[in-house]
Amino acid sequence: MEKRFLSDISEIEGKEATFDGWVYNTRSIGKIWFLILRDGTAMTQCVVSSDKTSDNVFNLENTLTQESSITVTGIVKEEQRSIGGYEILVENIVVHQLAQDYPISLKEHGTSFLMDYRHLWIRSKRQHAILKIRHQVIKSCRDFLDNNGFTLVDTPIFTANACEGTSNLFNVDYFDRSAYLTQSGQLYSEASAASFGKVYCFGPAFRAEKSKTRRHLTEFWMVEPEMAYYDLDDNMDLAEQFVESIVQSCLNNCENELDTLERDTSFLEKVKAPFPRITYDEAAKILSNNGADFSYGNDFGGTDETIISEQYDRPIMVHRWPADVKAFYMKRDNKNEKLALGVDMLAPEGYGEIIGGGQREDDLEILEKRIEEHGLDKKDFKWYLDLRKYGSVPHSGFGLGIERIVAWITGIKHIRETIPFPRTISRLEP
Ligand code: 4AD
Ligand code: MG
Repeated sequence: MEKRFLSDISEIEGKEATFDGWVYNTRSIGKIWFLILRDGTAMTQCVVSSDKTSDNVFNLENTLTQESSITVTGIVKEEQRSIGGYEILVENIVVHQLAQDYPISLKEHGTSFLMDYRHLWIRSKRQHAILKIRHQVIKSCRDFLDNNGFTLVDTPIFTANACEGTSNLFNVDYFDRSAYLTQSGQLYSEASAASFGKVYCFGPAFRAEKSKTRRHLTEFWMVEPEMAYYDLDDNMDLAEQFVESIVQSCLNNCENELDTLERDTSFLEKVKAPFPRITYDEAAKILSNNGADFSYGNDFGGTDETIISEQYDRPIMVHRWPADVKAFYMKRDNKNEKLALGVDMLAPEGYGEIIGGGQREDDLEILEKRIEEHGLDKKDFKWYLDLRKYGSVPHSGFGLGIERIVAWITGIKHIRETIPFPRTISRLEP
């Protein structure tokens, strides 16, 4: 039999069809009862009436529980008042398994309880919508880069060297030595960029983040483009086009999901390049004008990011940072040695940093000096330094945190709901 999915129900209006799925909800009005069937692609109301079904099927009303797995056969009918605009007039129901005491009812539950049942919670309407948008974000990242001449070059998860500082590394036993879980694929992408010109890596990144915030996970996903012969301005041009295309593709393809989440999309519609670009110094002035508890020279905290981003109606890029708060590999501004050519993109509506990146130091001697200054072991960076010995070029790149941009696009407060199975200091299960 041809497989049918509820998302395609409009194609078979008037015909008999069979759908596999799960019971989302049931409701009775005496001679008929209704069942909301979900199959992962959509939800549809099924109408069970005693004159169209056997007694056995009609009596399932008393036994079918939420999340039981069933197959429904019936006639598809247009019905404007029903979710999705169609109904199934049921002829038969086959029960595969009756779910017993499903722990998540359609009522409210606390987040900690729901997180303990994350493996089931992902079936619920809101979580389904968030993860659908996550899928669209990832797809549009790939589509944009693939359509713009980038080559995907994977980078390793086990690494010997730190990319983003040594304070939040995860150590793992690696035979007779130890290794770190990658914090970022960047250093390897710099090698790939010298082979392919424009590359990206896309994978999980790990940080032993000791701070419990709504923006930090210990395992998150990052897409990192890296481009040879791009300076900081070229990098910012790319970053804003990239983010515009991701947001617009979600608006175009995830209307139902954004609706389910009751997302006010007016801010998202304004996300069109160019984005405002301000220097760190200008951002620091905004903070002091707004009475923020911030001292010049530091990295921005969550509240600082919120204050800065609230001044604008679209994402903004903050560039030229005090070198002391940025990674060893950042190139310095030739007009002011104290500034690094880094850029952070801050999302509007208080969502804070979604992108971190910049132009890389391309001079061998300077880079060696920086590695030393940062207390890193030059031995670990032998291969990386080779890139400055053999055809070094100006180059730049950035990393976009998938969960951060999904949180913003979906309008979800806490990043933990933007990944199927979140990992935080206090959560390794399910
Ligand atoms: O700013 P970060 O640390 O930059 C890098 O890792 C660079 N090596 C990237 C590059 O230039 N190729 O991280 C980049 C982005 C952040 O802007 C944020 O969106 C996300 O990764 N991110 C996290 N997301 C969730 N949980 C965490 N603990 C995160 N740390 C960073
Ligand atoms: Mg950063």
